[in-house]
Amino acid sequence: MSLPQAARIDALISTLQRYEHAYYVLDAPLVPDAEYDRLYLALQALESEHPSLLRGDSPTQRVGGQAVAAFGQVRHALPMLSLGNVFNLQELAAFDKRCADTLGVPCVLYGAELKFDGLAVTLRYENGVLVQAATRGDGAVGEDVTHNMRTVKNVPLALLQGAGPPPAVLEVRGEVLMTRADFAALNAKQAANEQKTFVNPRNAAAGSLRQLDPRVTAQRPLTFCAYGVGEHSFNPAPSSHSAMLAALTALGLPVYQTPQLCAGADELQAFYEAVGKNRDALPFDIDGVVYKVNDYAQQTQLGFVSRAPRFAVAHKFPAQEQMTTLLTIDVQVGRTGTLTPVARLAPVFVGGVTVSNATLHNEGEIHRKQLMVGDTVIVRRAGDVIPEVVQSVAHLRQGEYRPYVLPRTCPVCQSATAQEEDGVQVRCINNLHCPAQLKQGLWHFAQRRAMDIDGLGDKLVDQLVDCGWLTEIADLFDPAVINIPRLTQLERFGEKSAQNLMAAIEAAKTRPLERLIYGLGIRHVGESTARDLAAQYGNLASLLAADLDSLLAVRDVGEVVAQSLLAYCADPAVRTMLARLADCGLNPPPITVARDTAHPLFGKTVVLTGTLQTLARDDAAAQLRALGATVAGSVSKKTHFVVAGEAAGSKLDKAQALGVPVVDEAVLVGWLASNH
Ligand code: IVH
Repeated sequence: MSLPQAARIDALISTLQRYEHAYYVLDAPLVPDAEYDRLYLALQALESEHPSLLRGDSPTQRVGGQAVAAFGQVRHALPMLSLGNVFNLQELAAFDKRCADTLGVPCVLYGAELKFDGLAVTLRYENGVLVQAATRGDGAVGEDVTHNMRTVKNVPLALLQGAGPPPAVLEVRGEVLMTRADFAALNAKQAANEQKTFVNPRNAAAGSLRQLDPRVTAQRPLTFCAYGVGEHSFNPAPSSHSAMLAALTALGLPVYQTPQLCAGADELQAFYEAVGKNRDALPFDIDGVVYKVNDYAQQTQLGFVSRAPRFAVAHKFPAQEQMTTLLTIDVQVGRTGTLTPVARLAPVFVGGVTVSNATLHNEGEIHRKQLMVGDTVIVRRAGDVIPEVVQSVAHLRQGEYRPYVLPRTCPVCQSATAQEEDGVQVRCINNLHCPAQLKQGLWHFAQRRAMDIDGLGDKLVDQLVDCGWLTEIADLFDPAVINIPRLTQLERFGEKSAQNLMAAIEAAKTRPLERLIYGLGIRHVGESTARDLAAQYGNLASLLAADLDSLLAVRDVGEVVAQSLLAYCADPAVRTMLARLADCGLNPPPITVARDTAHPLFGKTVVLTGTLQTLARDDAAAQLRALGATVAGSVSKKTHFVVAGEAAGSKLDKAQALGVPVVDEAVLVGWLASNH
């Protein structure tokens, strides 16, 4: 009775092992997930019916054991060594020369590979089955992490049967790590569950591996990358490092990349530079590259020095994390009044540049990271990512931790602050009366992409605000405020510069409307929204008169942007300022769209509702607008008609209640196509 069942279990296990290998090692799934799940459940059912047939290498047994009280110790059959380092081309050339001289050859062939930034682990397979996993420990004795490594999905519980049976003994050496994507997802999950987040993928991998309960490790997305072997009984044994990695690959073990064969120091250096450029595109962190003499006979000839081989060396990249001192926390006031704490750091060389400032984002972030002025902190700069203060090194702190408190008033104008709608940021509510906001508002207004006032840079704006001449944007265009005699009073400001600036200000008076709208710096109104608003309203007066419905009908304008525009336009100070701009001669050319006023859609207010089948909603709205119609967001008595697509809901009900005509999509398409 149980014999055919045993055969069925064996068959299911081999199939599932093949699928796991394809999925986790080759990154090339053979079947949809659902098919894997179906077989997995079938296997689980059979195993629970026949517990005596349960096999240790069954995919259902990845999370097998219970939590342990402490890790057992494992003495490595062959010691796990470390690597010497080279940091520059000279040291690399010296390493290469030593190898060549010792071997008595003109040129040495190396396998060059990635230096994975994780934790060293050794996996022991006996007769093709994973029997033990251990950390490096002190190199001679490590910790038994078998239960945990069994949960790592790309670690085969049983080796693939290749040309013949796998070697009776095989110790695979490699690194356990976490990909950056998995790390980010894990941290997000930890934060959502109010659990400890990790500083970097390496720490996350270490924390996950050193769990006493394998069920916890199983929840953590770890990855294993094999880079060599310890004790083994291959017969015949591969004769080189690259051949050995190929043999491991054939047995189903995850070898991330075949080593690149390089002859001599120059080729190694070229490999180092190429990998360095590509570093951020890898799915995981690396901290350098490793070069290994490829030929095993040559490796043996070179031998070892103390605890590192003479035949291999690590070539490290500049560190992406360094410690430094948090000197002080300054608070900057942004263009829209947001208070942003900024860390001033003792300059430190990290990730290839010197870093002395880093944004701390907001008060909550400082509390989460438990940062305190005077602390030793870890600063990280990875690739082109802006530098970040990762955390305090709390054990180096003298005295008690006192949480940082963001000033409760604006550090520039001392006026009151308010919590932003997002509940995270704090804002100075003094708007353009706050010199910090005014200065940045003026920089923004004058910048090339906005009003493009050549010569009105940051420094000059600061001067003009600080001496009290500029108190709002309109002052710029008022000849009583900004004029040549005044400008030439400024330090290092000659007649010629003054004339140029006046000419640039004059030229700005006729910039297109979209640049003006963008330049005003209305919250949430970026360049593309400004363009859409300009196209829709044609002049500033119409924009100022727009109501919520009309704004919501503009492409990409949602509730947040519309409310921000309404609040801006309703502000009496803004209205006075805009009127003054017009009085000073600021006059963007009105946008006139040549329209066919006889078209049946011209001047009509239309509401689109429900799902349209042949047109995207945005396209339909754009086509309607191009014909001179207004596309509104909600139905009112002023609506001329409603276009109801599939599953139209409350807007259709409202149209019917108000007696607004309703048409279907086919009618709309006909109208859009009509030359009337
Ligand atoms: S070979 C005898 N290859 O770097 C040589 N090590 O300082 C043993 N590492 O703890 C190491 N990537 O865990 C080798 N491709 C790679 C590696 C690598 C990362 C780690 C290894 C060891 C440390 C050596």
